[in-house]
Amino acid sequence: MAAFQPSLECDNISNIHSEQTDSDLIQKTDERYRETLPNLPKGKGWITEHLVQYQGFWLTPNAALKNLMWVQDHFKPRPTDIFLASFPKSGTTWLKALIFATVNRTRYGFADHPLLTTGPHDCFPFLDAHFQEKDRSRFDLDRFPSPRLLSIHIPYILLPNSMTDHQSCRFVYICRDPKDVLVSKWLFLNKLRPKDLPPISLEEAFELFCQGISHYGPFWDHVLGYWEGSLETPEKILFLKYEDLKKEPLVVVKRLGDFLGYPFSLEEESKGVVEEIVKLCSFENLSTLEVNKVSEQKFSKDTIIDNRHFFRKGKVGDWKTYLTTEMVERLDEITYEKLLGSGLVFGS
Ligand code: A3P
Repeated sequence: MAAFQPSLECDNISNIHSEQTDSDLIQKTDERYRETLPNLPKGKGWITEHLVQYQGFWLTPNAALKNLMWVQDHFKPRPTDIFLASFPKSGTTWLKALIFATVNRTRYGFADHPLLTTGPHDCFPFLDAHFQEKDRSRFDLDRFPSPRLLSIHIPYILLPNSMTDHQSCRFVYICRDPKDVLVSKWLFLNKLRPKDLPPISLEEAFELFCQGISHYGPFWDHVLGYWEGSLETPEKILFLKYEDLKKEPLVVVKRLGDFLGYPFSLEEESKGVVEEIVKLCSFENLSTLEVNKVSEQKFSKDTIIDNRHFFRKGKVGDWKTYLTTEMVERLDEITYEKLLGSGLVFGS
């Protein structure tokens, strides 16, 4: 992944040797990983043979579990860090673009904006894909200028205290109706599934999802972790819904600016800056850009994904095209039960 961050060139970043990783400490994490892995419960994987359950959450045994341990043991947050947290397929790509454009709006003009030639995932790297076995120094987080924009799928309760500590960094969490998440995820992962494995049927994907067995699942526990965190420390976690963003993008982007400490001035508002950001980051715009149609995104040594796969329909309620009435009823019932008493609801 060639990470684009303002004032650092992509090529420089990927070639810098990371000085922050001390080999003894890395070795300890490797040992922890090797000792932990054999004892973890296994479930069927969506693109790998299986997922493992670690402290209540389902992770890919190689990439996600290793990266999580790296973050827990080695990551040094800065108080200015901005994290975008999400359950996969909830709108991460969209929020990456919106946050990047909001935070850097005085730096770039809209006519030649980096997002026109650089994919959102390159502007806003995944922290939990940072640590790779044979490629530990792909980008050096210490050399990123502040505020660092980093994306995570890690569940809130598995984050190290240094990140959840009330004094430090900010989180934006984006969530989405689980029915749309399931459909988006099923279609997405079937595209990535190795050719030697047969495609996963919707029925099978549905069962696994309902049981919580999906990357970083159970979905509901993931969402509730950040939801409760946002109720406890609203100044630290902004909890957003994909559906609200679709309905009122201008309102949500203004909230985003306020929360991140980059409020839009009256002058900016009257000049239409918020509208420009929303337009730049819209599905219609991003999905038609050459960079998002052709180039690949390297997430880990085994996972290379075409940028175009991150843009499918970008709609609310596309689950109606795929899910049976029984599926809808069951998923809605699980969601109702899991979220009962939390104050969090999803539209039908
Ligand atoms: P669909 O598969 O329902 O179309 P993630 O970025 O977390 O992987 O989520 C991907 C989902 O977000 C996909 O949903 C994708 O089409 C949608 N998406 C990507 N960019 C978007 C944008 N700019 N606006 C709205 N939705 C977007």
